[in-house]
Formats: sequence, structure tokens, C-alpha cells
Amino acid sequence: MCAVAKTIVLGVTGSIAAYRAADLCSALSKEEGLQCRVAMTRWATRFVGELTFTTLTQNPVITDDNIGDYADRPEHLALGDLADLFLVAPASANIIGKMAHGIADDIVGTTYLSVTCPVVVAPAMNVRMLEHPAVQNNLGILRERGVRIVDPEEGVLACGDYGKGKIASTETLLGVIREMLT
Ligand SMILES: Cc1cc2nc3c(=O)[nH]c(=O)nc-3n(C[C@H](O)[C@H](O)[C@H](O)COP(=O)(O)O)c2cc1C
Repeated sequence: MCAVAKTIVLGVTGSIAAYRAADLCSALSKEEGLQCRVAMTRWATRFVGELTFTTLTQNPVITDDNIGDYADRPEHLALGDLADLFLVAPASANIIGKMAHGIADDIVGTTYLSVTCPVVVAPAMNVRMLEHPAVQNNLGILRERGVRIVDPEEGVLACGDYGKGKIASTETLLGVIREMLT
């Protein structure tokens, strides 16, 4: 009997680390044998083209600009139906705030409210943003709600500053995903 592949719904948001989501997506599909469905915020599409993810996943990518084009059922609900795990990587300070407070004005924030599966968030941002009490408070709210936060790493950031804020490595994220799916 053939096992049905589990589905990761990957939310990509507007961070310089968005290009890393492509690598992760490739590993999820090719190495882990998972189905991957991608939702991108408008800002995410300024960093990486949706065509990259369409090609890597062989599935349509839902963005704030094409929502309504693919499904009979609203896409955020269709993604919620499919998801065995909802991963937001990279997670901007903005989406973390929206998720913490239930704001649903983009495809990633709306999908978050529609999923019933485990949720993983991989923040990526400048160290000063990460350490801001507003962001720390929002991360705390998500943690208390049971969302798994994968701590960003320390190093030289894309902006040249040094500190914590680099998205966790693909290997670390794959390890968390494997753990959460079993
Ligand atoms: C070049 C550039 C890089 C950025 N990198 C980040 C980042 O790594 N993390 C972050 O939280 N915001 C970053 N921002 C700001 C976000 O893109 C901005 O807050 C945006 O509104 C996020 O939208 P989204 O959460 O809907 O994707 C960056 C902005 C620019 C112009």
C-alpha cells in the first residue's frame, strides 16, 4: 500500500531570508518526499518570484495578488484543509505580530487562522527588531498558544549588523518538521 505524502503549507513573508525558503522547499519536496504548498505575502514576492516556488513544488503558489484564481473553495480554507503542518519561514516581525493578534489581512495571516494543524514559525530579522519588546511579546503570545518558534541564529546579518536574527538553518528546520510530523 502506498503511503499518502503529508502536506506542509509554507508561508513566506517579506524578509531578505525569503530566498532561503526556496532551498527549504526544494528539500521538503525532493529529500523529505512531502507535498509543499506555498503562500506568499505581497512583500515576499518582492524578494523571490512565485515562479521559483511553483516550479519547486509543482503546485500553484497563492499570493495576495492571485487569491481567488485557483480554488472553488477560498484558498486560505483550502490550504487549511490540506495542511498537516503550517510553517512560516521566514517569518517577518510583521507576520509575527499579525499572527499573535489574529489579524487576517493577507494570505499568510488568514491561512494561519484557518489551520488546525501544528504551526511552526521561523523568525528572521535584524537583531534590533528581534529584541524589540513588541516582537518578543508577540513571540511569547505565539509560544503560549503552542506555536513552535525556531530560534534564529546569531551571526553577521544581511544588513551587515552582527547579532541574532538569521533564519535557522535548513537542517535545523527539517529536523523540527520531521519531529512535528511524527
Ligand atoms: C531590503 C529589506 C529587507 C527586509 N528584511 C526584513 C527581515 O529580514 N525581517 C523582517 O521582519 N522585515 C524585513 N523587512 C521589512 C518587511 O519587508 C516589512 O515589514 C513588510 O511590511 C513585511 O510584510 P509581510 O509580513 O506582509 O511580508 C525588510 C525590508 C526591506 C526593504
